[in-house]
Amino acid sequence: MKKIAVLTSGGDTPVMNAAIFGVVRAAHNKGMQVMGVVRGYAGLIEGELTELLPEQVEYISDKGGTILKSARCLEMLTDEGRAKAVQTLKDFDIEGLIVIGGDGSFRGAQVLTNLGVPAIGIPGTIDNDIAFTDYTLGFFTAINTAAQEISKIRTTMLSHDRICVVEVMGRHCGDMTLYAGIASEADFILIPEVKFDLDDICREIEERFARGREVSIIAMAEGAGNAEEIADYIREKTGRDLKHVVLGYTQRGGEPTVFDRVLAMQMSARAIELMEQGIGGRVVGIHENKIVDEEINTALAMPLKFDYALYEQYCAMMNY
Ligand code: F6P
Repeated sequence: MKKIAVLTSGGDTPVMNAAIFGVVRAAHNKGMQVMGVVRGYAGLIEGELTELLPEQVEYISDKGGTILKSARCLEMLTDEGRAKAVQTLKDFDIEGLIVIGGDGSFRGAQVLTNLGVPAIGIPGTIDNDIAFTDYTLGFFTAINTAAQEISKIRTTMLSHDRICVVEVMGRHCGDMTLYAGIASEADFILIPEVKFDLDDICREIEERFARGREVSIIAMAEGAGNAEEIADYIREKTGRDLKHVVLGYTQRGGEPTVFDRVLAMQMSARAIELMEQGIGGRVVGIHENKIVDEEINTALAMPLKFDYALYEQYCAMMNY
């Protein structure tokens, strides 16, 4: 391939720029010209593209956000939108596309591949909700942020003898909450993968009070409920001083961790190797410490594997 394009799609992660950097450098080294699509599939449909030269992506790997901007694009779900996207790629003589995003973005990549433009996906989402890869780009940075925020919340809860329910992102996946909760020594971890009973938690909180432990941090995945409602319920039941915090978009910002940046470089390099061979319809990832690639449809059909052993090990350690 002589000319390819790259886009970032869906919820951003702090590592998207590092992946753009990797894609542009690797492609240029193989003699490919790279066009950057602005605002994901929406920009592709509207023909918003700009050339990306290596010097334009210099020193962006440590910056959160995405220089290409990102969007969620409903039009890409329609035949008309898809046809326009293909037309843009044809108009710009683009032979292949790299899509940095989550599972929804990969479906778009599969569609474009089926329509004759080979597309490769790089898993860019903080949620870690793509079964094919052990880790998605942005996950480690986001859990670092979440763990740091929970630790900060704990200091003020300690000063005031309060209980706090902290809502962590992750959509339907509890990985972020599990890792951030462990790292910040959360007292309770509520995730969609494991059923929980709020009355049990209230009882446990009361028992802890009886033993002189007044502070508790409840790390709760957004997929497991609503922090405010859960805080209200526990306050009502126990009569204790309950607060809630929704960490929200702080988790999508900040400086990417070194591991995330290195992973971005490795995944980008593999994506370009596939493009060089004219291969599309695949996603790259990491499995057992090796960079791997898989058919998009197969990857998306894999059931998510939650680390129950890790969860149980931590709960046992915390007597919960
Ligand atoms: O997929 C990433 C994510 O941050 C999820 O954790 C969250 O549920 C969602 O995106 C929020 O989406 P939006 O940016 O559209 O509010």
